Amino acid sequence: MAILKIELYGSQVLREKAKPVEKVDDKIRSLLDDMVETMRFARGAGLAGNQVGVPLRIVVIDFGALEGKEDIRYFINPEIVSAEGKMDCEEGCLSFPQIFVKTQRPKKMKVRALDRDGNPFEVEGEDFISKAMGHELDHLDGVLMIDHVSPLKREFVKKRIKKLIREGEWENPYPQE
Ligand code: NI
Repeated sequence: MAILKIELYGSQVLREKAKPVEKVDDKIRSLLDDMVETMRFARGAGLAGNQVGVPLRIVVIDFGALEGKEDIRYFINPEIVSAEGKMDCEEGCLSFPQIFVKTQRPKKMKVRALDRDGNPFEVEGEDFISKAMGHELDHLDGVLMIDHVSPLKREFVKKRIKKLIREGEWENPYPQE
């Protein structure tokens, strides 16, 4: 397994609409494994293909991240089946190191996808799970968490990023331990 480079905000691939996976093969499974390894390394709870420079519709999420009990789920070509309610969230993103924003997302979400063996499944989740699925599926359409905040707040976040870049804390935010 390998630790992949995580694309940071400003990288064009984060704004691309990812393409569906045509065949779930060993190449895709190997990529998913590398994404999990990368996510662990960066201490994230989810990672989408775009974020490692691969605009394919693939996502990994650690459903157990809140409890610190790893429970990795693999989503290939995911689609939202249903979304219900609304909740206030605080969210971060590995492509935005040190940045957290307040957003609103559905309280409950059901998603359909293929698993790492290419078998279809559906999963329903609330709260953190709903937030994580919403956030990661957004990535596949080139949508980022700052698209969910007001223009004013977005400008504030952009200023903060410029400051981090100036301080040299933006380019290499995930140093090897
Ligand atoms: Ni993200």
